[in-house]
Amino acid sequence: RKDVGILAMEIYFPPTCVQQEAMEVHDGVSRGKYTIGLGQDCMAFCTEVEDVISMSLTVVSSLLEKYKIDPKEIGRLEVGSETVIDKSKSIKTWLMQIFQEHGNTDIEGVDSTNACYGGTAALFNCVNWVESSSWDGRYGLVVCTDSAVYAEGPARPTGGAAAVAMLIGPNAPIIFESKLRGTHMSHVYDFYKPDLASEYPVVDGKLSQTCYLMALDSCYKRFCSKYEKFEGKQFSISNADYFVFHSPYNKLVQKSFARLYFNDFLRNCSSVDKDAREILEPYSNLTGDESYQSRELEKASQQVAKKIYNEKVQPSTLIPKQVGNMYTASLYAAFVSVLHNKNNTLGGQRIVMFSYGSGLSSTMFSFKLKEGEHPFSLSNIASVMNVSQKLESRHMFGPEKFVETMKLMEHRYGAKEYETSKDTSLLSPGTFYLTHVDSMYRRYYAQV
Ligand code: ACO
Repeated sequence: RKDVGILAMEIYFPPTCVQQEAMEVHDGVSRGKYTIGLGQDCMAFCTEVEDVISMSLTVVSSLLEKYKIDPKEIGRLEVGSETVIDKSKSIKTWLMQIFQEHGNTDIEGVDSTNACYGGTAALFNCVNWVESSSWDGRYGLVVCTDSAVYAEGPARPTGGAAAVAMLIGPNAPIIFESKLRGTHMSHVYDFYKPDLASEYPVVDGKLSQTCYLMALDSCYKRFCSKYEKFEGKQFSISNADYFVFHSPYNKLVQKSFARLYFNDFLRNCSSVDKDAREILEPYSNLTGDESYQSRELEKASQQVAKKIYNEKVQPSTLIPKQVGNMYTASLYAAFVSVLHNKNNTLGGQRIVMFSYGSGLSSTMFSFKLKEGEHPFSLSNIASVMNVSQKLESRHMFGPEKFVETMKLMEHRYGAKEYETSKDTSLLSPGTFYLTHVDSMYRRYYAQV
């Protein structure tokens, strides 16, 4: 099987959002803390008519329709999510409604969960299936769907919501370089959801940042050594055109790329020029732990990496800055941003992806791109996703409305026997929404 990878993509995020600048005023924090400090512009959230199931129904039906894929042609469907609505019934089974209508119930796959990493696990499962002897010639479909909400406090502005769908098969324009995966997994309590009565996580913010950067270092080292083994030459940031990161908030992405640059400096790569070398020299003897704690190193490496950051990372930051953390969908929404911004120049280029899920699981992997043929071409994928229009047609709510929605959702979480407002005035045609939950906790959805 040649060129197994992503053939088509679609993204959905709620049309309802709140401006970070307004949140700063509302929360009484210093001006610039969320916009400059965290690097975020806006945060999407689900109102009471949307959730991870409705968003996944919306994104899947839209993908099938826009690329004219017969639902019978899907042989595997994998969902990544960390938003628990049911402890047993998978989100995948809700999505089966779309396929059983067309007489297709012969679809493997269920949900994968580990914080923001579930989408990557789902993607690997589908790619591995297409590459395996159990592949039956049909497409794989991956869905990442999450609503990221936090209790009041410093983590709240790092919420967000979205769903991404990806069609998997051979002869793809977005090709997996499967040999180049570098993984790091370990046991930590940085962000977790032990309270089953609440949708909110328990989060050790500072620890989660350090864990993320340590995982990044470890994955990058492994990724580089695999590249070196297979290609017989050193890998550095010069060998990829874009770096796409799981994006809880933009500041962490800036720090992450600076960290890769610092790794290249320690590995003596030619990607680090003489001036940068001089600036980073004072930090060359820090121990690993010291290097994660050093504010000076963080600032210095961000400064020297800034120019390359603007070229190789900035194009991926659009949707994550506008929508917020989308958990499992975050990395893929960042990738969608690159497709949106650069689709006509991506042929022949390499994109390195870094997936991180607290707890923790992380992998660095890469894609090679080619233009591809209609409808599975990079330009068509970008035009189908229509990111500008989706961003522009959103409705900004004030912080009060956002807080009110969070309060209502706290009551609704795990509840039964209620009707939603069924207010679809802000939803575009084709969007699924929740109508009611009955006395047996069964959920019902309709389509605008
Ligand atoms: N103007 C400009 N910058 C400011 C201002 C201001 N007025 N005020 C603060 N800042 C800067 C700070 O200097 C800091 O920047 P730095 O990191 O470059 O030093 C940044 O804003 C954040 O300020 P802190 O005081 O460090 O923020 P706080 O501790 O209040 O919360 C945190 C930040 C920990 C990220 C919190 O939002 C959180 O816990 N989020 C959820 C956890 C998370 O997303 N972790 C990432 C990996 S795990 C995952 O994906 C869920």
